[in-house]
Amino acid sequence: MCGISSILSLNDDIMNDLIFSLERLEYRGYDSAGIAYLGTNSKLYRERAVGKIENLKEVVEKLNVKSNIGIGHTRWATHGKVTELNAHPHVCDGVAVVHNGIIENYQELKDKLITEGYVFESETDTEVISKLIAFHIKGGENFQSAFSSSLSKFVGTYAIVAICENEPNILLGAKMGSPMAIGLSNDQQNFHIASDAVALSSLTDKVTYLEEGDIVVAEKGKNLNYEIFNLNGEKVARDAIPNVVSLNDINQNGYESFMLKEIFEEVIVAKNTYDRFNCDIDIFKFRGISIIACGTSYYAGLLAKYWIEDIARIPVNVEIASEFRYKNPILPKDSLYVFVSQSGETIDTLCAMRLVKEAHINTVALVNVNNSSIAREADYVIQTVAGTEIGVASTKVFISQILSMLLMCVKKDSVDITTIEKNINIVLNKQHEFARIAEKIKNSRSLFYIGRGTNYPLSLEGALKIKELSYISAEGHPAGEIKHGPIAIVDESVHTIAIAPLDKHFKKTLSNSQEIFARNGKILLITTENARNLVSDFDKGDIDYIFLPNSDPLYYPFSITTAIHLVAYYTAKLKGGDVDKPRNLAKSVTVE
Ligand code: AGP
Repeated sequence: MCGISSILSLNDDIMNDLIFSLERLEYRGYDSAGIAYLGTNSKLYRERAVGKIENLKEVVEKLNVKSNIGIGHTRWATHGKVTELNAHPHVCDGVAVVHNGIIENYQELKDKLITEGYVFESETDTEVISKLIAFHIKGGENFQSAFSSSLSKFVGTYAIVAICENEPNILLGAKMGSPMAIGLSNDQQNFHIASDAVALSSLTDKVTYLEEGDIVVAEKGKNLNYEIFNLNGEKVARDAIPNVVSLNDINQNGYESFMLKEIFEEVIVAKNTYDRFNCDIDIFKFRGISIIACGTSYYAGLLAKYWIEDIARIPVNVEIASEFRYKNPILPKDSLYVFVSQSGETIDTLCAMRLVKEAHINTVALVNVNNSSIAREADYVIQTVAGTEIGVASTKVFISQILSMLLMCVKKDSVDITTIEKNINIVLNKQHEFARIAEKIKNSRSLFYIGRGTNYPLSLEGALKIKELSYISAEGHPAGEIKHGPIAIVDESVHTIAIAPLDKHFKKTLSNSQEIFARNGKILLITTENARNLVSDFDKGDIDYIFLPNSDPLYYPFSITTAIHLVAYYTAKLKGGDVDKPRNLAKSVTVE
């Protein structure tokens, strides 16, 4: 998703911090970047570049810029192709803006501005913002008034930051539907407005998240001052919280990628989740539970459904947020709704939660980013303590999500966390085996993951990771479903990864695998050591195995999670993809 960053400073050397902040936003996913700033002559300058921020950095370093106010943006294309013309910031008559979100009525506004003589250079919705502010300034309004007048005309979502040549000491920000964090540097020399705390990591010790409709007005005088106004124009105060994003979170610490680092953190994440788990809501008081989420978070919910229904005997309904919110859902009053989200900003999950809150039903946010929008608006919050996750493909947070939902239905001391940690570690020490498997599947025409019980949601997660990182077409299926259609795809160019630990589904999954094998499909079995002598009669054709450590079947999902993440990682490496920032993807999907 797009990332925004900006600085108003008492000094004129903002550029290093502005670029540093933009680099922190790379994890959100982007395809172009740009900055705009006011020179010491108060004139507006802009630099933009398609591709990595490195390209922009090279241009800026040559300019040796002196400036005390600037804005920056990493663009994840929504309206308009990936071109320099579509890259932010967008400027008009001395006004520059950066924007995360979608102005849904931009075409209507654009048409009106065109009749006023404005000429558009880009295909973006954002360009309407800069031109509308300029139009209001031309009509005699000052910068802040023109900014507010423009906001009142927008339908949609935004996190906008703007600067203006006429008023070089003012930095303006506004939040509606897309996240925005502000913060003053520890030395009180720089005021920042950005998309999130990650962009401000090591720049500010405290961050304040704006609420829906808030506008922030920062002004440079002898000191830096800022005020926040709500939708009604009333001055409000918003809590500042510690910026928990540490330098450790945003450094690779010797790992070749954030994703590999974060897979290796799955051990400590499991331990921290166990030690710090805190849930103020007793699920046993509810007649039913609904888990609403997207992507990997949805698969975590699907897996939890098996546990909660098996252990707590409470019916669990798991829904894709973007479907749930538009289907006129039935909302039983005695149900508990759990919204699972790593970022806490996924607009579909946030809007689904708002729908449930309107019905005055209990909502729980299971989120990884504290003080995120979903966390702030839920009745209860369970924090997944995975630490900041930089890799766009979610890995370590999935471990924390599934363990947290297990701990919602069992007594903590009944969970053998030591075994979970030990087994994840054992899997991590099998890296060479995953590299071997990756070599085998990297050229598959299509790839199946199959499993039964909790191995089915894990198959969906494994397939998603392959898609996200290696761009290979991959599908996750209940193992029993293969013969109901998907098996038609099977031939020697199709690999199937069967997740078959020695649990109550083992034999049936093995026979489903043999159905595939009998049709020349290639099989990779992710199983457990205690099944070693049970697969020996499996035809010794093009079969490969990974033997995970034995344990109580309840704990298999944890070591299998690490295994499927490593399969995806090593396959992506062989395919040459950017494992931390896969093409087309965003870490936090704040647009519908
Ligand atoms: C996971 O690897 C993907 N990046 C994506 O499916 C993600 O899980 C989904 O967009 C939901 O994000 P959230 O957990 O932040 O709500």
